[in-house]
Amino acid sequence: MTTASDAPTANPSPEAPSAEPVIQRRTVTLRIRRYNPENGIVDPTWHDYPVEVFPTDRILDALNTIKWEQDGTLTYRRSCGHGICGSDAMRINGRNRLACKTLIKDLPMTNAITIEAIKGLPLEKDLIVDMEPFFQAYRDVKPFLITEGHEPTRERLQSQHDRERFDDTTKCILCAACTTSCPVFWTDSQYFGPAAIVGAHRFIFDSRDEGATTRLDILNDREGVWRCRTTFNCTEACPRGIEITQAIQEVKRALISRRV
Ligand code: SF4
Ligand code: F3S
Ligand code: FES
Repeated sequence: MTTASDAPTANPSPEAPSAEPVIQRRTVTLRIRRYNPENGIVDPTWHDYPVEVFPTDRILDALNTIKWEQDGTLTYRRSCGHGICGSDAMRINGRNRLACKTLIKDLPMTNAITIEAIKGLPLEKDLIVDMEPFFQAYRDVKPFLITEGHEPTRERLQSQHDRERFDDTTKCILCAACTTSCPVFWTDSQYFGPAAIVGAHRFIFDSRDEGATTRLDILNDREGVWRCRTTFNCTEACPRGIEITQAIQEVKRALISRRV
């Protein structure tokens, strides 16, 4: 039985709810390198756009605000908005990043935020480059399971240990942030580039795959892994945190030992 003294009592002196911190909007300037050959603009030029943002907004939000409220001709790629599709890699303050994963508050607020297209691929318009050479290099390393013999009647089994060997390189979203931050690729567009090597690594070290020799031969080309100078730009640029330089080293070692 509940007595009067057991009954829950109302808080006799409720404290006033603490004031929520108010996140203020502020104006930042996005300095965007624009290019539109259709308008006869031969050289890319920088344009400043003041835009009201919350510090917690992403660069993609700021770009959308400019496009929707100031200048609908601004052109850039985006799709998922959550770091999954790999569409919106761009050079933000001189570093390759995904616009949808870069928060305004994580950038220095003192100067304008510079935004330009990724480097090393043909510029088409504003922040858009022709990705075809990038995807061709990826296709060239045969990024799919290669097997011989008869189709199995059950799934291809693999131990956890064997799966771990290529776990890191399965995370690639083909955003091109790595390849287009590589100084070797900037000077030699024939170089396969780190993303294609990551794609090859994912299958070379897969115990269920039988195409490792084929892929290693492809990457033994003069434009293959030996062009890498271990500068680590690719690893620093990867939004998925893939240890790209290490993966490239593993492919080099596999080529030398001819063992995976
Ligand atoms: Fe992008 Fe990283 Fe894949 Fe390179 S390895 S394409 S940076 S996700
Ligand atoms: Fe280029 Fe990465 Fe090698 S930046 S040189 S591919 S370590
Ligand atoms: Fe898809 Fe940024 S919009 S990764």
